[in-house]
Amino acid sequence: MPVIRFGVSLEKELLDALDGFVEENLFVNRSQAIRHLISNGLAESKWQCNNEVAGSLTMIYDHHRRGLVAQLTRLQHERNNLILSSVHLHLDRGQCMELLAVRGRAAELTAMADKLRSVKGVRYARLTMARLTGAEHHDET
Ligand code: NI
Repeated sequence: MPVIRFGVSLEKELLDALDGFVEENLFVNRSQAIRHLISNGLAESKWQCNNEVAGSLTMIYDHHRRGLVAQLTRLQHERNNLILSSVHLHLDRGQCMELLAVRGRAAELTAMADKLRSVKGVRYARLTMARLTGAEHHDET
């Protein structure tokens, strides 16, 4: 594929951050780092579509927050078609970690993760997804 050169204007601070990123990740130059960032960013936005994916949702939350556990349980029951399995780990007296194995349309899983993350007392919620091969690509939703 032909390579096209173009100019980019950046604030000094952002450029320094980019150079740090280049160094930390052992990229050979800025171009390589920018290429990586762009393709990752675009791949992320593609998750919003209707691809069939499987993945995991990791959550960390404050067990003592009033009503939180009941709310998380209710939200998960409502989306049981997306959740294959879950593991609950009591990290210490107050904090819990919950791992959900999930499968479904990328947009649905993203929406579920956003919903669970928005519950007060959830400190961390991260969804990872892998597209299932052979799944058809639809964008009509
Ligand atoms: Ni717990």
